[in-house]
Amino acid sequence: MLKEVFATRYITPLREGGSLPGLVEADDLGLYVMKFTGAGQGRKTLVAEVVCAGLARRLGLRVPGLVTVGLDPVLGLGEPDQEVQGLLRASGGLNLGMDFLSGAIGFDPLAFAVGPEEAGRILWFDALVGNVDRSWRNPNLLMWHGDLWLIDHGATMIWHHNWPGAEVSAARPYDASEHVLAPFAPDVAGAAAELAPLVTGDLLTEVTADIPEEWLAGEPGFGTPDALRRAYAALLLARAAVIHERIQGLETRQGDK
Ligand SMILES: Nc1ncnc2c1ncn2[C@@H]1O[C@H](COP(=O)(O)OP(=O)(O)OP(=O)(O)O)[C@@H](O)[C@H]1O
Ligand SMILES: [Mg+2]
Repeated sequence: MLKEVFATRYITPLREGGSLPGLVEADDLGLYVMKFTGAGQGRKTLVAEVVCAGLARRLGLRVPGLVTVGLDPVLGLGEPDQEVQGLLRASGGLNLGMDFLSGAIGFDPLAFAVGPEEAGRILWFDALVGNVDRSWRNPNLLMWHGDLWLIDHGATMIWHHNWPGAEVSAARPYDASEHVLAPFAPDVAGAAAELAPLVTGDLLTEVTADIPEEWLAGEPGFGTPDALRRAYAALLLARAAVIHERIQGLETRQGDK
């Protein structure tokens, strides 16, 4: 289970984020980037964040730690910004928080170099979860204390938006042609050999156990939250074994850098 904290102060919206994540302080005095159940795609975005961050961390990739953040919507009453107020009002209950990496800067592929091994591991991971949000336009990678950190996994696992068609959707290839790390000669075969064997049924059971029950309840076609957890795990398990053969769009980029 993720650690649970309660929001005590809304500090500021992070305007560059499309879903209007906010910086909040919590009752453990931690600062968190908070993502709200009342935003855009709602709780499925948050489920994707929990699954991807849990998986990435267990594969040795750097991701900010996660917590659940309890929110009393009255926290929004004093907000002058109408949009923020609406978001807080719509997000009472459990939301998601990420450790705030203070002083982190956005990764710029023209300013920083990434080695083929690290590029390969990140790209393989993105292919596994079907991440379309790691492009050169919007890398969702932060540089912090000289290292790369992965953020923003809300737009992954597109298959969970349509479970009846999920198996077909999850079997699709991954187009890496616009991936921000494509120009760094990513060693995808090496990454697959190292990481795919780590993605076991047990590991995925651990990862999906962290999804809060209330973000899973009531999904049509699934009797219990655990049945839905098993569906997330089964698709990722099947995809992990084959995805490195289904990454497209890299060959044209190898000579770029
Ligand atoms: N853990 C963190 N520590 C420091 N800054 C962060 C963290 N998470 C997010 N940010 C900052 O907030 C911005 C928005 O966050 P994020 O990309 O997760 O939001 P989003 O609404 O999903 O964005 P997008 O517009 O990419 O869909 C990031 O680009 C980054 O600058
Ligand atoms: Mg983002």
